[in-house]
Amino acid sequence: MLETIAVVGAGNVGATLAQRIAEAELSRTVALIDIAEGIPQGKALDMLEAGPVYGYDTNIIGSNDYNVAKDADIFVVTAGMPRKPGMSRDDLLDVNAKIMHSVCDNIKRVAPNSKIIVVSNPLDVMCHAALEASGFPHERVFGMAGVLDTARFRTFIAEALDVSVEQVNAFVLGGHGDTMVPLVRYTTIAGIPLADLMPADKIEAIVDRARKGGAEIVGYLKNGSAFYAPSASVVEMIESIVKDKKKILPCAVYLTGQYGVNNLYVGVPVKLGKNGIEEIVEIKLTDAERQQLQISVDDVSSNVAKLSGAVPA
Ligand code: NAI
Ligand code: 2OP
Repeated sequence: MLETIAVVGAGNVGATLAQRIAEAELSRTVALIDIAEGIPQGKALDMLEAGPVYGYDTNIIGSNDYNVAKDADIFVVTAGMPRKPGMSRDDLLDVNAKIMHSVCDNIKRVAPNSKIIVVSNPLDVMCHAALEASGFPHERVFGMAGVLDTARFRTFIAEALDVSVEQVNAFVLGGHGDTMVPLVRYTTIAGIPLADLMPADKIEAIVDRARKGGAEIVGYLKNGSAFYAPSASVVEMIESIVKDKKKILPCAVYLTGQYGVNNLYVGVPVKLGKNGIEEIVEIKLTDAERQQLQISVDDVSSNVAKLSGAVPA
């Protein structure tokens, strides 16, 4: 168990995440921080009061002051604006980049040795903003998207085949956008390749639905975006770090030549353990998969370029 995990942004994703961390007792203290006065305090107290009923002893502190998260081991940044209908993740770029800078200034002041898990959108670009603003080594700054995108892909496959989601193994490469690359060739159900169980046109429809999974939820909610599956996805990453499980999970990480990509955050499989990103796993891709990944990489790269000064040399 860690001493302190801090969650910045006490909105839908952040508050649900804080609750999940507390319930799983992944740290002794959960610090929930937000710019809005009263919101983190009220939500944290409410969660604390659920402890006796639910049976957890986690200390949950809500504040507008980062000092409550002094020397926290992990900061998860969910601060920012969510998507509204008709907005792409990239529409959030400017406003969330400014927020990310102010958040990371505070993180490096109170917890210079922490790891930062970025959630705010546009995810891959916000990872760059966090890297630049924190000045941390890139091994300690990474993003959550692939676990969520993969969870959606797995859900739709399990639903279509009427099998347990637990037996669907898959992962999604690339940026957290409509050009993400769900890898069909590496998708199995109880070890059986997906292509043996489902016709190609049905697989293609599921790939398309997974790519648009975020927008599907926004379409229903109208005034916000997904938060149950996103917060669960961050917990899987944190748990692998806290318990040193060394799970291989798709995360947005800074590539320095892997997959032929340089100086860019892209979602790829990594080993997550007590040291954070312990290994970037490079898998062999077919020419077609490589081309699809390149489209996603180009997409991320052009968005990062919009973030003036955020591209590290
Ligand atoms: P929300 O609007 O419910 O919560 C955002 C919170 O950030 C608000 O409470 C707001 O007061 C706070 N905030 C704004 N500026 C701040 C600052 N400077 N310092 C501290 N807190 C600040 O939004 P929600 O639904 O929780 O989403 C949060 C972010 O996560 C959005 O950018 C959304 O697009 C992104 N997201 C990313 C996902 C991913 O897969 N990477 C999945 C789901 C959401
Ligand atoms: C999602 O995929 C909005 O990025 C967020 O749900």
